[in-house]
Amino acid sequence: MARPRTILYTGKGGVGKTSVAAASALRCAGEGLRTVVLSTDPAHSLSDSLGGELGADPTPVRENLWGQEVQAQREMEAHWAEMRRWLGRVLVDRGVMDIAAEELTVPPGMDELFSLLQIKRHVESGEFDVVIVDCAPTGETLRLLSFPEIAQWWLEKVFPLEGRMLAAARPVAKSFFDLDLPGADALDEVHRLVRNLIAMNEILRDRERASIRLVMNPDRMVIREAQRTFTYLNLYGYLTDAVVVNRIFPAELEQGYFGDWRRLQAERLREVEQGFAPVPLLRARYFAAEVVGEEMLERLGDELFGERSPAEVMHDELPREITTGPDGTARVRISVPFAERSEVSLKKVGSELVVSAGRERRTIILPPALARRDPSGARLEDGALEVSFADAGPRSAQP
Ligand SMILES: Nc1ncnc2c1ncn2[C@@H]1O[C@H](COP(=O)(O)OP(=O)(O)O)[C@@H](O)[C@H]1O
Ligand SMILES: [Mg+2]
Repeated sequence: MARPRTILYTGKGGVGKTSVAAASALRCAGEGLRTVVLSTDPAHSLSDSLGGELGADPTPVRENLWGQEVQAQREMEAHWAEMRRWLGRVLVDRGVMDIAAEELTVPPGMDELFSLLQIKRHVESGEFDVVIVDCAPTGETLRLLSFPEIAQWWLEKVFPLEGRMLAAARPVAKSFFDLDLPGADALDEVHRLVRNLIAMNEILRDRERASIRLVMNPDRMVIREAQRTFTYLNLYGYLTDAVVVNRIFPAELEQGYFGDWRRLQAERLREVEQGFAPVPLLRARYFAAEVVGEEMLERLGDELFGERSPAEVMHDELPREITTGPDGTARVRISVPFAERSEVSLKKVGSELVVSAGRERRTIILPPALARRDPSGARLEDGALEVSFADAGPRSAQP
């Protein structure tokens, strides 16, 4: 049985993720695809957007369409209860107040992580053709999901030992440190989590079926944050197949007060092109009314997708690749199909790498580990520029 198409929408709060996700889902359902749209953002607004009461499980909205507002609390209870109880006890024993201990048993990002496991459930159930996710702001949680190698290592190297070691350590820990080690149930949860993370990673890195779409407004700060997320997504091998720019002032506002805003937005749109090309851009205007209810969502969908289907994979390669060598070198590969050897120039300003050729520009926000280094070489080959960074060596004591 074929896996469903999975699309994740992410971006800063308020940019229009929920609206765009709901509009995409409505359109997919209209095409006859069995579609579920789920939100993992604790600030749920999918119910309001679709105009109905959605439950914590897929709730029918109309033909071929289900909506779901995932309850992180419930997922946590189902997947992490034993571990929480144990951590809670340890913290309370050490004088942390009950309420604080309760908070501390859930590392940041963990609740969304468990919510995202719903994707795995839907992919495995075979009930849907399309799974659309309205994610919490920023791609933080996707970063948590991107270390299956580490999870794998734990699973293979640490867990087989741990049972025996814990059995031996338990009485010692109790009498010397007055510490109860986690019980078998809690450890089972950790095992299950690791297995789930590996499975999720496989689902999300399947570039024929899964992709992420970055939603933004034509505002500088919003674009910058989306670019940072884009860098991480590329770094971890997740495919971004489209970039959505929502709330663009329409041409009618050319005159007067909003005329200046429109010109500014035109500039921001160019920045988006430079920052994300060749990933296609989907645009939607700033409507004169809130986007709620099916009629408005359909208008938003028409605007964004035109003749296309939201379920298409709109772009199928990673436009930036960041690889590291065993000797500590790193290479950033940027596709610049327009560039000729003679005209390419490369500039690094802070954490930003700017490649220009004639009138074309690409800006890349480097991950912190590379932002500290200077490029040590560059090579143009097959329409891609490969920039290398030598190992920074031991960090110097200078600031
Ligand atoms: N293109 C648009 N034009 C006008 N209002 C919009 C548009 N897109 C979204 N909205 C409105 O903006 C608000 C925030 O959108 P929402 O989709 O909930 O953002 P997010 O999920 O990113 O926080 C909602 O009230 C929504 O109806
Ligand atoms: Mg939302």
